[in-house]
Amino acid sequence: MAVAAEGSPCPGAGGRTGRIQAVHTEVCPVEAVDDDLRAQLLACWTDVSNAGGSVGFVPPVTEEEVAPHLDAVVERVHRGHELFAVLRVDGEFAGFAVLSLPVSPLRRHWATVLRVQVRPERQGRGLGRVLVSGVHAIARDRGLEFLHLTVRGGTGLEAFYATFGYREFGRMPGAVRVAPGDDRDELHLTCRL
Ligand SMILES: CC(C)(COP(=O)(O)OP(=O)(O)OC[C@H]1O[C@@H](n2cnc3c(N)ncnc32)[C@H](O)[C@@H]1OP(=O)(O)O)[C@@H](O)C(=O)NCCC(=O)NCCS
Repeated sequence: MAVAAEGSPCPGAGGRTGRIQAVHTEVCPVEAVDDDLRAQLLACWTDVSNAGGSVGFVPPVTEEEVAPHLDAVVERVHRGHELFAVLRVDGEFAGFAVLSLPVSPLRRHWATVLRVQVRPERQGRGLGRVLVSGVHAIARDRGLEFLHLTVRGGTGLEAFYATFGYREFGRMPGAVRVAPGDDRDELHLTCRL
C-alpha cells in the first residue's frame, strides 16, 4: 500500500516530499522550463494521451501535435499566469499537473488544476495521490483556498478526486467529443483546501 506523506520542502523550490515503498517522491512548483524539462513534459503528455488518459487529446497523437499546446502552457508559466507541479521519483521525472493561477483581483483565492498526469508505466502505485497532494500543498503555500478542475465523463475519475474532497458542482453536457457519436459531459469539480 502506497503512502503519501508530506515532508520537508524540496531544496530551493518550496515543494513537498514523501515516500512510497522506500522510494523518494517530491512535487515541486516550476516557474521556468528549460529544454530538458520541456522534452520530459512533452513525452509524458504524449505518452499519457496515447495510453488513453483524458488530458486534452484522444489517441493516436504525436509529439508534434502536442507541442504547440505545451508551448502555450510554457509561455503562460513564464508570464507567471500558470505553474507546473512536477512529480519526481528518486529524482526522475514521473508526471506533472498545471496550476492555472487567478488573474482577477476578485478571485485571488481560487485556481484551476489542469492536465493531472502520471507517466503510464508508473500509474496505479499511489503516485497520483502524491501528485494531487503536492498540488494542494503548493496551492496552500500561495494562499489559495479553493481549487477547480474538470473531468471527462465516463472515466470514473471523479471517484479519485472525491477522496481529496472534490465535489461536482455542475457539468457541461456533451462538451467533450471523444469520437463522432461519443460526446461526453465535462464534470466541474471543486475542493476547499
Ligand atoms: C489519474 C491519475 C493521475 C491517477 O494516478 P495513479 O498513480 O494511477 O493513481 P493512484 O495509484 O495514486 O490511485 C489512487 C486511487 O485512485 C484510484 N484511481 C486511479 N485512477 C482512477 C480512475 N481513472 N478512476 C477511478 N479511480 C481511479 C485508484 O484506484 C486508487 O484508489 P485506492 O487508493 O482506493 O486504491 C493517472 O492514472 C493518470 O495519469 N491517468 C491518465 C491521465 C488522466 O486521465 N488524468 C486525469 C485528468 S482529470
